[in-house]
Amino acid sequence: MMRYCLTIALLMTAVSLLAENLVADEGGKEDKPLPAMHHVVKVKPPKGMKVPQKFPLNDQGKIDCNTCHGIKDIEDIPIDEVDKQAHNFHRGGPYKQLSDFCYHCHGKKDYQRSNIHQLLDDNNEYDEKDCEYCHKKAPDPEKDIKRDELEFRLPPQKLCFGCHLKTPHLNALNHQVAPDKEMRKRIADAEKRLNIILPLDQTGKVMCVTCHAPHEPGVIDKEKPAGRQVANADLDKGVSYVEHAWNTVFSADKKARLEKLATEGGGVHTLRYQRIETEVLLRLSAKNGVLCQACHKFER
Ligand code: HEC
Ligand code: HEC
Ligand code: HEC
Ligand code: HEC
Ligand code: HEC
Ligand code: HEC
Repeated sequence: MMRYCLTIALLMTAVSLLAENLVADEGGKEDKPLPAMHHVVKVKPPKGMKVPQKFPLNDQGKIDCNTCHGIKDIEDIPIDEVDKQAHNFHRGGPYKQLSDFCYHCHGKKDYQRSNIHQLLDDNNEYDEKDCEYCHKKAPDPEKDIKRDELEFRLPPQKLCFGCHLKTPHLNALNHQVAPDKEMRKRIADAEKRLNIILPLDQTGKVMCVTCHAPHEPGVIDKEKPAGRQVANADLDKGVSYVEHAWNTVFSADKKARLEKLATEGGGVHTLRYQRIETEVLLRLSAKNGVLCQACHKFER
C-alpha cells in the first residue's frame, strides 16, 4: 500500500492527485496509536448538535468508537489490522468526501471555517486580531525579525490542524521528517539562490509552512525572503486543477497499478489526475517543479 502511495507521490510534479479520503495512507504505518489528530471521543454532543439515530451514542450519551465506526469492537483491534477500506469504517459510508461524513453531526455552516489567510482588506490593511490567531502578538512586518523571536499560540508545525486535516493531501504526512545532511545543504543553497525561506520546525523536520506561506501575499514585503511566494491567484478560488488526460509519464504499467489502487478503495477514494492550474500560498511553484527541486534531486 505504502509503495503505491509513494509511486503516486513521485508523479506529483507533473500531475496532482487528490484523495478525498486519506485513511488508507495512514493505514500504511504499523503499530500506531490513534493518530494525534484523531477526532475527540467520549464527549457529549453539545445542545444544538443533532446526532442522527444511525450514529449510536454510548450508554453515557457520549460519542464513542461505535458512534462513528461501523466495525464491531474496533477498539480491540490493533490499528494496523483495522479494515479501513470497509464501507462501514466510517458509519454510513463509503463517502466520496470525508466532509460529507462530518456534516451528519456538524452543520455545514458551523463547519465552514473562516479563511484566516485572507488578512488584508481593500486598503491593504490588516486587523492584528487576525494575526493573533496564530501569533502570540502580531509581529511588525516592517521590522527585521529573527525567526526565534517569533512566538506562536501553538508550535508552528501544529498551527494548521484545527482547520485542515493532518493529511490535506497525500504526501503531506510522509513529508514531516527531517531532511538528511545532503538535503539540508540543497535547501540552504535554494534559500540563498532563490531568496526565500524554507523553514524547518525546532526539531529540524519539514512542516506545513516549509512549503506553504501562511500569509496572503503582501502581508510581508515581497522583497523579503519570508514574503516571497507564488504570485497571487485568487484566494477565494484557491488551488485549482484542470482536468488532465493521462500524462505521457505514466507507463501502461503504472496506469494499471494506479487503477487497481483506485478500485481497491471500493470507490471510497476519489483519485483525480489533474494538472495544477492555479496555486496559492506556496513559497515556490510546484507546477514547474521548482518547489520540489529545492529539496530533491530527481534522476533524469
Ligand atoms: C466522531 C467520530 C469518531 C469517533 C467517535 C471515533 N473515530 Fe476513529 N476515526 C474517525 C475519522 C473521521 C477517522 C479518519 C481520520 C482521517 O482520515 O483523517 C478515524 C480514524 C480511525 C482509525 C484509523 C487510524 C489510522 O490512521 O490508521 C482508527 C483505527 C480509529 N479511528 C479507531 C477509533 C477508535 C478505537 C475509537 C474509539 C476510541 C474511535 N476511532 C472513535 C472518526 C471517529
Ligand atoms: C457522530 C457525530 C460526529 C461526527 C460524524 C463528527 N463529529 Fe466532530 N464532534 C462531534 C462532537 C459531539 C464534538 C464535541 C463538540 C463540542 O463539544 O463542541 C465534536 C467536535 C469536533 C471538533 C472540535 C474538537 C475539539 O477538540 O474541540 C472538530 C474540529 C470536529 N469535531 C471536526 C469533525 C470532522 C472534521 C469530522 C469529520 C471527519 C467530524 N467532526 C465528524 C461529533 C461528530
Ligand atoms: C495561519 C497562521 C498565521 C497567521 C494568521 C499569521 N501568521 Fe505570520 N507567521 C506564521 C508562521 C507559521 C510564521 C513563521 C514561518 C517561519 O517559521 O519562518 C510567520 C511569520 C511571520 C513574520 C516573520 C517573517 C520573517 O521575516 O521571517 C511576520 C512579520 C508575520 N508572520 C506577520 C504576520 C502578520 C502581520 C499577520 C497578520 C496580518 C500574520 N503574520 C498572520 C503564521 C501566521
Ligand atoms: C513538500 C511540500 C508540502 C508540504 C510539507 C505540505 N504541502 Fe500542502 N500543498 C503542497 C503543494 C505542492 C500543493 C498544491 C496542490 C497539490 O499539488 O495538491 C499543496 C496543496 C495544499 C492545500 C490545497 C489542497 C487543495 O486541493 O485545495 C492545502 C489545504 C494544503 N496543501 C495544506 C497543507 C497542510 C495543512 C500541510 C501540513 C500538514 C501541508 N499542506 C504540507 C505542498 C506541500
Ligand atoms: C482558522 C482556520 C485556518 C487555519 C488555522 C489555517 N487555515 Fe488554511 N485555509 C482555511 C480556509 C477556510 C481556507 C480556504 C479553503 C478551504 O475552505 O479549505 C484555507 C486555505 C488554505 C490553502 C489553500 C487551499 C485552497 O485551495 O484554497 C492552503 C495551502 C492552506 N490553507 C494552508 C494552511 C497552512 C499551511 C496553515 C498553517 C500555517 C493553515 N492553512 C492554517 C482555514 C485555515
Ligand atoms: C523542504 C524540503 C522538501 C520539499 C520542498 C519537497 N520535499 Fe519531498 N521529501 C522531503 C523529505 C525530507 C523527504 C523524506 C526523506 C527522503 O525520502 O528523502 C521527502 C520525501 C519525498 C518522497 C518520498 C521518497 C521516498 O522514497 O521515501 C517523495 C515521493 C517526495 N518527497 C516528492 C516530493 C515532491 C513531488 C515535491 C514537490 C511538490 C517535494 N517532494 C517537495 C523534503 C522535501
